[in-house]
Amino acid sequence: MDMKRVVLNLFYVCIGYICVSLTESYDKCPKGANKCHFVDNDKATCRNFHYIPMLKEYVLTLELRCCYLPHITRQTFQNISSNKIIHLAFKKYNSVQTITTDAFTDLKYLQSLEVSWEKQFDVLHFKSSLKSLNVSLFKELYFERNGWTSLPKSLFAYLAGFKLSVLSLSENDFEIMNASIFKPISGLRKFVCIKCSITDLNANGLKTVEAIDLTSNNIIEIPDFCDATGKHSLAPVLKTLTLSENAIRLILPNSFKCLQSLETLVLDGNIITELTKNGFSTLPSLIRLSINYIPRLKRIRMKAFNSTSLRILQFRQNGFRFDNDNAYHFRDLFINTYNLRKLDLSKNYLPHKKQHLLRILSPLKKLRKLYMETTGLSEIPEGLFQNMPFLQKLTLIGNKITRWNPSTFANMTNLRKLHLDGNLIHIINKTSFPTMLLNKLEIFEISNNPFWCTCDQRWFLDMLRSTNITKKIRNWPKFYSCAYPENLKNSLLDSYRPTDAECEINYFTSIIIIAVCSVLIFVFFSALILYRCHINIKNLLYFARVHHRIKKGYLKLMSCNDFDFDVFVVYCDSDRQWVHNVLIKRLEDKGLKICIHHRDFQIGEPIINNIEKFMNKSWKIIVVMSNDFAKSEWCQWEVNLALERRRRQGMNALVLIMYRQIDSKHMTSGLRTLLNTTPHLIFTEGLGEGMFWNAVLNGINKSLMLPPTAVL
Ligand SMILES: *[C@@H]1O[C@H](CO)[C@@H](O)[C@H](O)[C@H]1NC(C)=O
Ligand SMILES: *[C@@H]1O[C@H](CO)[C@@H](O)[C@H](O)[C@H]1NC(C)=O
Ligand SMILES: *[C@@H]1O[C@H](CO)[C@@H](O)[C@H](O)[C@H]1NC(C)=O
Ligand SMILES: *[C@@H]1O[C@H](CO)[C@@H](O)[C@H](O)[C@H]1NC(C)=O
Ligand SMILES: *[C@@H]1O[C@H](CO)[C@@H](O)[C@H](O)[C@H]1NC(C)=O
Ligand SMILES: *[C@@H]1O[C@H](CO)[C@@H](O)[C@H](O)[C@H]1NC(C)=O
Ligand SMILES: *[C@@H]1O[C@H](CO)[C@@H](O)[C@H](O)[C@H]1NC(C)=O
Repeated sequence: MDMKRVVLNLFYVCIGYICVSLTESYDKCPKGANKCHFVDNDKATCRNFHYIPMLKEYVLTLELRCCYLPHITRQTFQNISSNKIIHLAFKKYNSVQTITTDAFTDLKYLQSLEVSWEKQFDVLHFKSSLKSLNVSLFKELYFERNGWTSLPKSLFAYLAGFKLSVLSLSENDFEIMNASIFKPISGLRKFVCIKCSITDLNANGLKTVEAIDLTSNNIIEIPDFCDATGKHSLAPVLKTLTLSENAIRLILPNSFKCLQSLETLVLDGNIITELTKNGFSTLPSLIRLSINYIPRLKRIRMKAFNSTSLRILQFRQNGFRFDNDNAYHFRDLFINTYNLRKLDLSKNYLPHKKQHLLRILSPLKKLRKLYMETTGLSEIPEGLFQNMPFLQKLTLIGNKITRWNPSTFANMTNLRKLHLDGNLIHIINKTSFPTMLLNKLEIFEISNNPFWCTCDQRWFLDMLRSTNITKKIRNWPKFYSCAYPENLKNSLLDSYRPTDAECEINYFTSIIIIAVCSVLIFVFFSALILYRCHINIKNLLYFARVHHRIKKGYLKLMSCNDFDFDVFVVYCDSDRQWVHNVLIKRLEDKGLKICIHHRDFQIGEPIINNIEKFMNKSWKIIVVMSNDFAKSEWCQWEVNLALERRRRQGMNALVLIMYRQIDSKHMTSGLRTLLNTTPHLIFTEGLGEGMFWNAVLNGINKSLMLPPTAVL
């Protein structure tokens, strides 16, 4: 146990030693011959000189490393005085101690000067040498990693009238940065102090500054950019403020005052725990807000992003949970952020519920670019992208998306870049993407998905092989492999070529299934039709039979001329309406003579006699049957007469019409006998009615069959 620890400690010590010696040897200048190294012809990097060597006339940039140049005078630059040196950098370990007042006099074209990594550099005596720079050309000044802890008050006193586009003091140890030392510079545009250990920035002196980069300092609170009255700005033209990797904890509603020109604000990598309501709404010109890499962020108040000017919001890699119990709380997150053009929500946890995500993003109708990488998204809400008609780029890398509705990517007329790599997509088929979209895309990436190499994938593969679309598909074919079936696992999707035979088995199976289904459906509908129309069908059969017999040419034994009436109608009083208004009218329209008792019966004779008499005077008897008919005793008597007629003249003497179906409980034995021995027609209205009437007329016109033997 102890032995183990000792060995381990020894190991660490050795590693530490190796590291230290490596950095030391890296830091220190390696000994060697002096030489210059040229890049792009006009840039020279010279090492290990004790003077500045002659250079080709086209060299415009000179960088010196590991040279020994402790005292720099005008004389030092003699060898390059005829060069048009624009950039001069004492970059590392040149042992610079002093620079004389007139040192840069002959470098008439100098625009940029750097003195870095010079621990012995005497900054106090240096300031007057800035006087020898060309005021109308000089633009950039870099004093980096010189170990300075403070700056002489009047360091830049000689830069009055200069328009400096960059002043960098990075990697010195200032702690407090009193910007009033920049006041003499009439036109400082950009101030950079990365890794300067700054805890406080006194903004007085930044009147002309448009950009400040204070990455990797120790700032705890957003610096105050208001003057003593609190009304006027100390940085009225400041457009870009970068405060990445500081120790800012809080964004208060008043944090960003007096920054009316600020367009870009970068707060990445701070330790902010909460974004307050209207935290950025005091920045009227804010266009880009970057709040990335803030793992401690736990709470976002409603309207935290209230800013109608905001165009770009980067909210990446914060691991923020939009999917917790408070998901509902975020519904109005972007309610006033409707001008957003670019939104990055990657590496956060987006809500699981589709409608929540839809709701959160619903105000963002002007979005051009949307990044939602690794957000745990498994479903794409329908209508989400249709709500963003201008969307040009969509990145959904590393989610858990398997499938989506065919309408998901519909109408995305402006989309040119689509990234769906690293999801769980198995099949891409005709319904996955509209053809119009595939044609318009310039970049399409869908690699690293667990594709299925089955016949369902055929459409996609055929499409890839028949079009030029693979030119747009990133990483094709290398990162597109099969995850299923087992025997094709890890083989390339591109090499999967399903044969026709293979897929046709499926094709035939589906054909068979379709055929079976069709037959079943046909049977079902036939049964339905039979059930609904069985009456018409029966009538049709009857009609056909009669027709058949007429064709066979049965002899007419008795002609209708022997009778006074063509038809005697037997019916009950409750069906009278139909009999008179419909049946008789129809038959009389065909020229038939109908016996109706109230019209034709002889007055004064008993009704029974009348009926018997007129029945005998009629060629055919029509019996109109219904429940009421079956119930009526009078009608039963008439049925008996009809049966008698049936017996004597055969079934063709009667035309039975079932006007309303008779229930079994009303069925009498007489009726049953009649129905069993004689075919009957069933009245239907609407469809099949024409056929019914034809059958009735045929029944009436038909000759009587051979009389039963009894009559003979
Ligand atoms: C100019 O360069 C030559 C070598 O090329 C060198 O010997 C001389 O010392 C240089 N002059 C100055 C003033 O550095
Ligand atoms: C500064 O540069 C300009 C433009 O090249 C030039 O005309 C002018 O003479 C230079 N001034 C000095 C003092 O060298
Ligand atoms: C900043 O410097 C100015 C002038 O050098 C001085 O008046 C002021 O008090 C300083 N402010 C801070 C906060 O040190
Ligand atoms: C959003 O910010 C603006 C500008 O500061 C403000 O006037 C407005 O009241 C804020 N809206 C809400 C809902 O807080
Ligand atoms: C696409 O646009 C057409 C025509 O404007 C519209 O009828 C259709 O509903 C839209 N589809 C979707 C999914 O929004
Ligand atoms: C396309 O694939 C999806 C699964 O990814 C499936 O649900 C859908 O039915 C398929 N559509 C067609 C037309 O095959
Ligand atoms: C693919 O592109 C080539 C040239 O880039 C062209 O000749 C060919 O017709 C294109 N094929 C299709 C199917 O568009």
